[in-house]
Amino acid sequence: MVDIKRLGEHVGEVVEIRGWVETKRTHGKVAFLVVRDGTGILQCVLVKSQVDEASWETHDTLTQECVVSVTGEVREDARAPGGYELGVEKLVLLAPSEDYPIQPKEHGVDFLLDHRHLWIRSARQRAGLRVRAEVEQAVHDFFYARDFVRIDTPILTGSIGEHAGTLFKTDYFGQDAYLAQTGQLYVEAACPAFRRVYCFGPTFRAEKSKTRRHLTEFWMVEPEVAFADSDDNMRLQEEFVSYLVERALERCSEELKILERDTSALERVRPPFPRISYSEAVDELQAKGSDIQWGEDLGAPDEVALVEDRDLPLFVYNYPKEAKAFYMKENPEDPRTVLCDDLLAPEGYGEIIGGSQREDDLDRLRERIREEGLPEEAYAWYLDLRRYGTFPHSGFGLGIERTVAWITGRRHIRELIPFPRLMNRLYP
Ligand code: 4AD
Ligand code: MG
Repeated sequence: MVDIKRLGEHVGEVVEIRGWVETKRTHGKVAFLVVRDGTGILQCVLVKSQVDEASWETHDTLTQECVVSVTGEVREDARAPGGYELGVEKLVLLAPSEDYPIQPKEHGVDFLLDHRHLWIRSARQRAGLRVRAEVEQAVHDFFYARDFVRIDTPILTGSIGEHAGTLFKTDYFGQDAYLAQTGQLYVEAACPAFRRVYCFGPTFRAEKSKTRRHLTEFWMVEPEVAFADSDDNMRLQEEFVSYLVERALERCSEELKILERDTSALERVRPPFPRISYSEAVDELQAKGSDIQWGEDLGAPDEVALVEDRDLPLFVYNYPKEAKAFYMKENPEDPRTVLCDDLLAPEGYGEIIGGSQREDDLDRLRERIREEGLPEEAYAWYLDLRRYGTFPHSGFGLGIERTVAWITGRRHIRELIPFPRLMNRLYP
């Protein structure tokens, strides 16, 4: 048995492939069959006079998504999808599939999400998920090449990582535990051990918003670097994001074509990215007619307004303290703000990264934890990091689904995770 992807190595040979039937049609004494084996798509041709009767009859019974074994000669054919075709000698049905729910027609999105376990087989979904897999591999390659150590951080935690408002709480033998909103506090702890570290895993937020860019379970990559300031942090982000885009362009051109992604803007994504301060962003938004006031966090529509006409990602840096999490370092030049940045993806996508320099001063950090009303006991270990050899450090979190939605040009991030978890969806 060979992979469809490797057929080029077998031209002129008789091979067997196994896979799922996508479509079939018959023109008199010639019959066609398109098979997907997970590595590619192959058109198979049966000529009645050249196959045994059983194979010809089997073709007649085939339905969408049944499993077949097809044996035949590999022929080059520029018009066929993938560039090859199979001159069938033998066709065997391995497993039936009757009344497959997803037909080659338009279905409503709720129907498709209810059938996500089947929907992932279709062309555009496959393309999006393959780009995701490539981007994830690129994440590891990028950090490995730069001497980062990967740290796996806990999913069950006792300390709130971001906002008390979006916690999933669970019972942990009589104690409250939370599903991790971030691995950040733990990679900060690993920094003195390895200097450059990152974590990559699922994170959880009880988002009660039904938007195209919120999931309750999403994957985040979070690097953390000792002796890096906010400026170093932004430079790492622009290099990293440019690398992810470049890898997708380089290795997923077929997929981007299937998704009808216009890649011209992506091709221009390379450092440096433009930077504006939060205060400049507010001015720009007010000039565009927004009624945003200094001090308020940027909402999704504000972000869209800032990047809808851009084709490079945009940094917005140094937000007001009250709009951001407790661990960010106060800006010595303007203590109303913190040393942080959000990276907004262009073409109207908005935030894909949140990053900051961390508060490394023990007293100030303790003060911030108190101000936020967080339980101090749960952060004793985190405060220890400032007690025993504190150091300037910075890091960021990049959301995989939002990043891949932008790269693939898909509107909803729910299509870029195999099994999305949304406020109103736990099935399948
Ligand atoms: O800006 P956030 O909340 O930052 C953090 O969690 C920091 N602890 C990261 C760090 O400094 N180590 O989230 C980071 C990114 C966002 O920019 C966004 O891409 C993604 O995570 N994200 C979500 N993606 C999908 N659904 C949600 N509900 C998301 N919330 C955040
Ligand atoms: Mg954020």
